[in-house]
Amino acid sequence: MGDTRTVTVFGLGLMGQALAGAMLAGGRVTTVWNRTPGRAGDLPERGAKEAAGVRDAVEASDLLIVCVRDYHAVREFLDPVADALAGRTLVNLTSGSSAEAREMAAWAAGHGAAYLDGAIMMTPPGIGQPDTVLLYGGPADVFAAHADTLRLLGGATTHLSEDTGLASLYDVALLGIMWGSLNGFVHAAALLAADGVPARDFLPFATSWLGAIGVFSGVVADQVDSGDFAAVDASLASHLPPIEHLIDESRARGVDAALPEFTRGLVAAAIARGHEGDGYARLIDHFRPKAA
Ligand SMILES: NC(=O)c1ccc[n+]([C@@H]2O[C@H](COP(=O)([O-])OP(=O)(O)OC[C@H]3O[C@@H](n4cnc5c(N)ncnc54)[C@H](OP(=O)(O)O)[C@@H]3O)[C@@H](O)[C@H]2O)c1
Repeated sequence: MGDTRTVTVFGLGLMGQALAGAMLAGGRVTTVWNRTPGRAGDLPERGAKEAAGVRDAVEASDLLIVCVRDYHAVREFLDPVADALAGRTLVNLTSGSSAEAREMAAWAAGHGAAYLDGAIMMTPPGIGQPDTVLLYGGPADVFAAHADTLRLLGGATTHLSEDTGLASLYDVALLGIMWGSLNGFVHAAALLAADGVPARDFLPFATSWLGAIGVFSGVVADQVDSGDFAAVDASLASHLPPIEHLIDESRARGVDAALPEFTRGLVAAAIARGHEGDGYARLIDHFRPKAA
């Protein structure tokens, strides 16, 4: 299939403005629409057409990219013009749950539109960069038809699955890793600050360590998938003493120790179940859904 030439971007918040800017930079004929008028910034000067209304915005393009606050907002402005969606492709980059994504896919299909649901793993300044990741779920042929245009938003754009909900699930799973890592970093920064070490001095070591954690994660992934948890790098028994040290160092400085105490609870419980010789992946038992 040929490349998409006409694109409408719905939603001109911080992210929508960046998406529309990338479309213009990629030479696409770009129409923009926002609920509140007057938020197009410099996009018209750069060549964007401002739609007079939602219906005009839908009718202007084959590819419709939506990025607003939430799925409720998407339906609020698209419901009244749903009859105009037939034969077009709706790409929803609004953040939401996997259930909302699947529901939206069914709604779009009911109106004759092809649908992709996407997750943007970047902030607006990174839109259009070669290593920026956007993840998509939905029909592979629909993604393929628009891949060149969608890659204008991020060079590391990936189609994950025909399952429309998977991009949203990856999104929250990746955000969970981000919050877990950032919690660890701010806890570490508080610990070092108590001894007069600026966070910036510590940063290169933290960054390099995050790279090493990526390597450790490969072992965890293999063990979670195989179900063979025997330690290949470090046993749970060897994790426990340094966790105690972290708790002690935190308490000695008046730094909140709740994070390492939570970790100790997980590791100690696994050891109490007889898994002291297993690797860190064994903690999956704690997080897995419990049998009914
Ligand atoms: N910013 C990021 O770093 C980032 C990263 C990844 C994903 N996202 C996701 O991208 C989406 C947009 O984020 P943003 O940063 O652009 O947010 P934002 O700057 O707060 O903009 C929100 C946008 O949603 C529109 N909107 C809100 N309620 C609406 C409604 N009922 N009907 C129509 N439009 C409505 C707003 O229109 P008005 O101007 O009329 O209020 C505005 O265009 C969110 O789902 C967010 O989670 C953002």
